[in-house]
Amino acid sequence: MNPKSAFVNKYKDLLKELEAHEGLAAMFADSAADFDSAADLEALEAARVKHLGRKSPLSLLLRSIPDLPPEERPIVGKYGNRARAALEQGLADRKKELEGVELERRLASEQVDITLPGEPFPRGHLHIITQTQWEIEDIFAGLGYRIAEGPEIESDYYNFTALNTPEGHPARSLHDTFFIEGHEDVLLRTQTSPVQIRVMEKEEPPVYIISPGRVYRRDSDATHTPMFHQIEGLAVDQHITLADLKGTLETFAKAIFGAEREIRMRPHFFPFTEPSVEIDVSCMICGGSGCRACKHSGWLEILGAGMVDPNVFGFVDYDTDEVQGFAFGMGVERIAMLKHGMSDLRMFYDNDLRFIKQF
Ligand code: PHE
Repeated sequence: MNPKSAFVNKYKDLLKELEAHEGLAAMFADSAADFDSAADLEALEAARVKHLGRKSPLSLLLRSIPDLPPEERPIVGKYGNRARAALEQGLADRKKELEGVELERRLASEQVDITLPGEPFPRGHLHIITQTQWEIEDIFAGLGYRIAEGPEIESDYYNFTALNTPEGHPARSLHDTFFIEGHEDVLLRTQTSPVQIRVMEKEEPPVYIISPGRVYRRDSDATHTPMFHQIEGLAVDQHITLADLKGTLETFAKAIFGAEREIRMRPHFFPFTEPSVEIDVSCMICGGSGCRACKHSGWLEILGAGMVDPNVFGFVDYDTDEVQGFAFGMGVERIAMLKHGMSDLRMFYDNDLRFIKQF
C-alpha cells in the first residue's frame, strides 16, 4: 500500500480495527491504494467499479454474511460496513480533488490567447474627395461658418435667374448643363451657388455658411468630369469688404496647403459677384519660382470669388444699405489634385484600388 496514501493517514484508526478481520483490512488497503493513485476521473471511476461495484470483493463479502460462521458475522457486518462507508467517503473526496485538477488543466489549456493576431479583414476608408471635403469644412467651421445644403436637382430660377444670370446668358446654354426633357426649368445644378439664394431667402443676416455638394456640367477631359464637387462660401454682415474676403481665403489657403503659401487676386467675372476675382495660391511644388505644374508662373488658380452683387440681394430682399457680403466657390477635386500633386481628375472616379488606397 502506498505509504503516502491519504487514506492510510485518514483512516489509520479504522485500519487498525479492521485488522480484526484480515481479509477486510487487505481489501480496504487495496481499494484505498487504487483510489489514491487514480490519475484522473476516468481511472477513479474504474477503481470505484472494481472496489465498490456489485461484483467487488467487498460487496461479495458483505453479501456472503448469512453464509459465514456465526461468530464471524457480527465482525464482518460491523467492520465491513464501516469499511464501505469510509471508502465511499474517500472516493468522494478524491473525486472532488481530481475535478479540481481537471478544471485547472482545462483553464490552462483552453485559454484564449488574445495576443494571437486575428483573421485579417480588409478595412476601407473614406474616399480622398470625402476626406478633402471634410478637411475644408473643418477649416471653415473653425472660422465660424455653418454648413448648409441644397438640392442637386435644381430649378432654373435658383441656379441662374436669382444669381443675376438672366435668360439669354451664355451660361444657360443647353450645352453647359443637363436639363430635364419636357421640363426646361428643371436641371442638375451646375454650381453650389443656388444654396446662397435658398439660405438668404429663409434667414436674415448675418449669414456665414459653406455649402458642399455635387454639381454637374457637360464637360469631360483630364481636368473635368461631368459630376464633381464644390464648396460654396457666403458671408453677409455689416461692413464686409474685399479685404475680409482676402483675409478669409488666405487663412484657408495656409490651413489647407501650408503656412508658407500666399494668395493673390486676379480680376474676373461672375454674374452674381461684383467685383469678381479669381484666387491663386503660390505654387506648392516650386514654392513660387516657376515649374511645369504652375506653367512657370509661380501661381495656381484655386477658386472663384467676389463681393455679392447688389442685384442678388435684391432677389432675397436684403437691404443693400445695411449689409454687404462676399462669396466664393471652389472645386473639391481641384483642391485635392493640387494638394496631392495629381494630374488626371478622372482617377478619382475610376475606382482603381491601387490609386484609392494611397490616400
Ligand atoms: N459658382 C462659381 C463657379 O462655379 C464659383 C463662384 C462662387 C464664384 C461664388 C464667385 C462666388 O464657377
